[in-house]
Amino acid sequence: MIKPETIQEIFETAKIDEVIGDFVSLRKRGVNFIGLCPFHNEKTPSFTVSSAKGIFKCFGCGKGGNAVNFIMEHEHYSYPEALKFVAKKYNIEIEEEVQSSEQLERLGAMESLFHVSTFAQKYFTDTIQNTEEGKAIGLSYLKERGFSNEIIKKFQIGYCPDSFGGFSDHALKNGYKREHLIKSGLSIKGDNKVYDRFKARVIFPIHNLTGKVIGFGGRILSSEKNKAKYVNSPDSDIYNKSKVLYGIFYARNAILKNDLCYLVEGYTDVISLHQAGIENVVASSGTSLTTDQVKLIKRFTPNITILYDGDAAGIKASFRGIDMILEEGLNVKILLFPEGEDPDSFVRHKSIDEVEKFIENNTTDFIAFKTNLLISEAKKDPIKKASLIKEIVHSIALIPDGIFRSVYVKECSSTMEIPEQTLMNELNNALRKKFKNRLKFQPTEAEFEIPKQEVKKQIEFDISATKNQESELVRLLLLYGDEEIIFEDIDENKQKIEVPIKVAELIIHDLKSDEISFQDKILQKVFDEYSQALEAGIILTADHFMQHPEDNISQLVIDLTVSPYELSNNWLKKRIPVKSECDNMKRLVSSSVLSFKSKKIDQMISDNQREMKKAENAEDNLILQQKHVSLKNISREINRELSRIITK
Ligand code: CTP
Ligand code: MN
Repeated sequence: MIKPETIQEIFETAKIDEVIGDFVSLRKRGVNFIGLCPFHNEKTPSFTVSSAKGIFKCFGCGKGGNAVNFIMEHEHYSYPEALKFVAKKYNIEIEEEVQSSEQLERLGAMESLFHVSTFAQKYFTDTIQNTEEGKAIGLSYLKERGFSNEIIKKFQIGYCPDSFGGFSDHALKNGYKREHLIKSGLSIKGDNKVYDRFKARVIFPIHNLTGKVIGFGGRILSSEKNKAKYVNSPDSDIYNKSKVLYGIFYARNAILKNDLCYLVEGYTDVISLHQAGIENVVASSGTSLTTDQVKLIKRFTPNITILYDGDAAGIKASFRGIDMILEEGLNVKILLFPEGEDPDSFVRHKSIDEVEKFIENNTTDFIAFKTNLLISEAKKDPIKKASLIKEIVHSIALIPDGIFRSVYVKECSSTMEIPEQTLMNELNNALRKKFKNRLKFQPTEAEFEIPKQEVKKQIEFDISATKNQESELVRLLLLYGDEEIIFEDIDENKQKIEVPIKVAELIIHDLKSDEISFQDKILQKVFDEYSQALEAGIILTADHFMQHPEDNISQLVIDLTVSPYELSNNWLKKRIPVKSECDNMKRLVSSSVLSFKSKKIDQMISDNQREMKKAENAEDNLILQQKHVSLKNISREINRELSRIITK
């Protein structure tokens, strides 16, 4: 845990235009900076940075936040990681609160594995670049394959000498523990000594998202048939094969920029494509893709193109795996290489233009690809055609987005020359089956008919029932808390007088006296902090929360209160509310409070009704019924008042 004081210091020191300026080129415009948004593709800048407020906001895609939020979003860091990143930029020493001994132990173990892995990587690259054996065997092999020294250095490719324990001994001599060498898989336990796992192999280090070495793949140089072509690090505390993609660290920015990720099979495919100028590429390292890997890609883009070097049979075998990618909601395309070529060999003697043209002309949508492949197999065989329809529809049914599904149905109906309705019926069957499986109990006929999408919507609706009203109240507090609303009253001399009441006081007092709380936890936190300050006579503004130590609070407040209106005008005018809102302040505040209460009462009524159904005796039931009647009365009153205000 980073200490709150340290977080405070980071927020106070960081200048948002400097932090973002490291990633986006910003131009000054008025009191703000503008630039091209790094989170979506745009030609005219709508990404705005305010150094005065310490926030950014893109009016194209809606992303916004403070400096730390930016780093989280841009670098895909966790909150503490982002804080540390910014702290490092400003040389702020991170003070962390002491952790439990268990946590420390685990962290210690991971840290040791990171250390020994980095040490090994340096040893291997040093060996390939600077030793006779490394140069003569490792480097010359890579050069022969057409890899430039630049790309070899970039990917930190190395070589492990052909000796029993050359590396292991060196590491032990440098103080690395036997235990960590074995745990990392770099060394293998022998009878009385440890020896090198990667002996006489070219080494491809595997990096995590932030560029730390977490594992290795070692390629053999001889063509001995009885030895595996590749040897890889075993899973460890820092390396989990099924969660890592080779090359992700080098590809992440290019994936974001192109909004597309190429997927290949091997280390050398990734490296060759990079050398050819295509950097948005990762490898599954020979195994079929896992859900975790797909989710990793999805953090950067929903679009994936799989580069295949196999024949039709090989591709067919991978269809099941691709279904899983569809299920995650990604758009899948397929690119097939000519017989006998893999991405690595294909790009070797081609220019980037040739490669790009080939990709452009040969990329096919997965469903279309599958349809065509199966059609050519099923030609003039009606039985095969029937199973083909089922196969295709099965894949379409996996796509979570209903609109995409119907587009595919349309397309497939024309390629397969099958009426759209036939496919639609088949699709509905498949969806129903899927839905049924998901429920894990035998549904009644009626429940059968609810499409999955709708069920989800209903649940979301229930959960966020009062969220809109809650957000609106918090928004009013933050933007207009200090505004005064004039009420009329009568003084002791029976004279009409005007009493000014602040928006903040009005809302807080009203909600507190009814002991109403928020459903949304973050909104509640903002509300609590706000009302505490109010008790001390301080009216907090949105700005206060924008640099809040809790990142989800700052994010929420920025989303809630920063409007294009405010940013496009002078920031100094920020305290002046949007005119139309200000004119109607009294009405706006009262109706917001009442709508919130009205929703709350509705919830209480339906809770009560649920209780009534469960009531076990007449007495309980009577009490609940009385409660129902009085709740209904309150609800009617609130709604009458609400409609009076709105129609006034
Ligand atoms: N692989 C592996 N173990 C093997 C063979 C393959 O782990 N015995 C993994 C490696 O990650 C490899 C990928 O599967 O990169 C693809 O295998 P392959 O196409 O055979 O290797 P390439 O990467 O193409 O290597 P090269 O071009 O040097 O033959
Ligand atoms: Mn290859």
